[in-house]
Amino acid sequence: MTDSSPPALSSDHAFAPLRNDTFLRACLGQATNYTPVWLMRQAGRYLPEYRALRAQAGSFMGLATNVDYATEVTLQPLERYPLDAAILFSDILTVPDAMGLGLTFQPNEGPQFAHPVRDEYDVARLAVPDMDRLRYVFDAVRSIRHALQGRVPLIGFAGSPWTLACYMVEGQSSADYATIKTLLYSRPDLLHRLLATNADSVAAYLNAQIDAGAQAVMLFDSWGGVLADGAFQTFSLAYTARVLQQLRRTGADGQPVPRIVFTKGGGPWLAAMRALDCDVLGVDWTVNLGAARQLLNNSGGQTAPSARQSLQGNLDPAVLLAPPAVIKAEVQRTLAAFGTPDTTHENGQRSCQLIFNLGHGIKQNTPPEHVAALVQAVHAHSRQMRQASRSSAA
Ligand code: CP3
Repeated sequence: MTDSSPPALSSDHAFAPLRNDTFLRACLGQATNYTPVWLMRQAGRYLPEYRALRAQAGSFMGLATNVDYATEVTLQPLERYPLDAAILFSDILTVPDAMGLGLTFQPNEGPQFAHPVRDEYDVARLAVPDMDRLRYVFDAVRSIRHALQGRVPLIGFAGSPWTLACYMVEGQSSADYATIKTLLYSRPDLLHRLLATNADSVAAYLNAQIDAGAQAVMLFDSWGGVLADGAFQTFSLAYTARVLQQLRRTGADGQPVPRIVFTKGGGPWLAAMRALDCDVLGVDWTVNLGAARQLLNNSGGQTAPSARQSLQGNLDPAVLLAPPAVIKAEVQRTLAAFGTPDTTHENGQRSCQLIFNLGHGIKQNTPPEHVAALVQAVHAHSRQMRQASRSSAA
């Protein structure tokens, strides 16, 4: 498969210089003045302005496939809150849709594939899609970069090969993943073929996003945590590694492009994930950030390609349903669990930094003003922690 991403025009490289690099610095293990924050699903149904535009577009895919809508929706949360990163407005399921599986989103029912992958014949027909079928995504990346005018970096993303396979085989969201697990245990050869195709598709897709202007990329392994120990390593982790191996290191502006891997429920396998060639590990609320930080900082020698990853997470999204005073206290607890970040930067050595986020996507019934309280608390309290540690050291 050749990379068929559209050739970049020279004017595409004239993106405005970045004015807030806090998120990128933390991803790369460099010290920052405060802890950067962004939220999974920060553009979405909890925002009335999102619901209004979605009604205008008629459907979720109507929003995602229209460059102007996708740009506007991406910027909506940034107009309200001083977030430290933007994330492309799209969906992980665009890739299997481009493979010909026929994606629709039924209101209040979630995604649905018209042609799920069920047998040997279905698997044999799958191939890495022509990236031209996903051109609307790369066009949106370019458009969002221009609209951002260097305010904050833009994160591109894709689903992990395993998480995409869950939807491709089940045909929709699932409570127990019985169909794909039946395939896993009875025909692992078929699942391996499917996962290899997914990995190569996701790599081509993320590389095209990087070429279009994405400044960091994130893999969502939302359902890695449903796997048994052993199965996770074989059917999820190995294919995440296969994606990472193929990714470009440098973006359209010539800057390094940090890679984030988020495995929901991946806490038990952090030690194994440390070996991934990525910059950040995203964790959910079941993980203690202090313990995870210790694990990443004690990688014992330099065996891993990137010895120390940063962490991203991990507030329970349900906290945002509680009053602002509770949100503030829970933010402080989360920052305290991680501890004061390293503020020195010896010999260009990376240290494990924190990127504040939720442990999964923001809930639909979250009051928008609660998000304002969260962002404010992260910025203010994380500055205070650094000041307190500097004055106690002086
Ligand atoms: O984070 C962002 O703001 C960027 C946009 C984004 C969306 N989906 C928009 C979306 C991102 C990063 C995703 C990723 C995604 N999509 C994941 C991984 C993250 C996770 O939540 O675990 C998964 C599993 C999907 C698949 C998906 N898309 C489902 C299951 C659903 C329906 C259920 C739901 O949460 O609504 C979607 C639809 C979807 N993707 C919506 C949004 C804003 C809601 C659609 C609508 O407007 O009705």
